[in-house]
Amino acid sequence: MKNKLVVLTGAGISAESGLKTFRDSDGLWEGFDINEVATATAWKKNPALVQEFYNMRRQNVKEAKPNEAHKILAELEQDFDVQIVTQNIDDLHERAGSTKVLHLHGEIFKMRSEKNEDLIYPIHDDIQMGDKAEDGAQLRPQIVWFEEPVYMIEPAANLMRTAEIFLIVGTSLVVYPAAGLVNYVPWKIEKFIVDKKIPYSTPLYNLTAIEKGASEGMREVRELIKMKNEK
Ligand code: APR
Repeated sequence: MKNKLVVLTGAGISAESGLKTFRDSDGLWEGFDINEVATATAWKKNPALVQEFYNMRRQNVKEAKPNEAHKILAELEQDFDVQIVTQNIDDLHERAGSTKVLHLHGEIFKMRSEKNEDLIYPIHDDIQMGDKAEDGAQLRPQIVWFEEPVYMIEPAANLMRTAEIFLIVGTSLVVYPAAGLVNYVPWKIEKFIVDKKIPYSTPLYNLTAIEKGASEGMREVRELIKMKNEK
């Protein structure tokens, strides 16, 4: 039986793949105010702008490649039962080879009916205004916006409870309910956090903080947890 390694990732793990994080640039994301493009209100007010914004994001993700940090997480499946819970909408974990990835905030390569969140389809190019789902409603990106419920939070919390080792990579942990997931992790297990700038102020018991970029930090985590596995 392999030890269960549960990993919570955020935008910082994809930064070295050239995808911008959200909060490293004064609340502006690729020059856009998050409130104007990533909220349910924004979609009601100006759906064409929101659609265009996510069409651009989809292009960016298509051009990006998994970096070493994504690849190390995929390789760790040889020695650990790795379960990733990501806030990212990109598919870089999957392209690196990770097999168990739960997306909390949706996926850029999926779209859905604006009326029915269960009518989901794959999409690799642009979604146009006027493109309809089979229920006749406008298609929108399958992204969980601010002001919308995070449907995957309960399965994610249940995964946290099963962790034997816990790792956080590249998230500012300011967006709820995702940030609250750390509270479901068994308190006594070993925990690691990798971030260019450790954001976490609440002390988590048994936490090793590695203040480095994702790839460099993940190399260090790999050594640390492999040593434990061999003991
Ligand atoms: N390596 C490691 N960490 C990095 C790197 C890097 N190269 N670059 C940035 N970081 C860290 C930052 O220090 C920060 O702690 O990544 C984190 C990015 O934080 P955010 O931009 O807030 O991204 P995230 O935590 O994923 O945001 C959560 O907010 O906008 C919503 O739904 C969106 O899923 C997103 C959620």
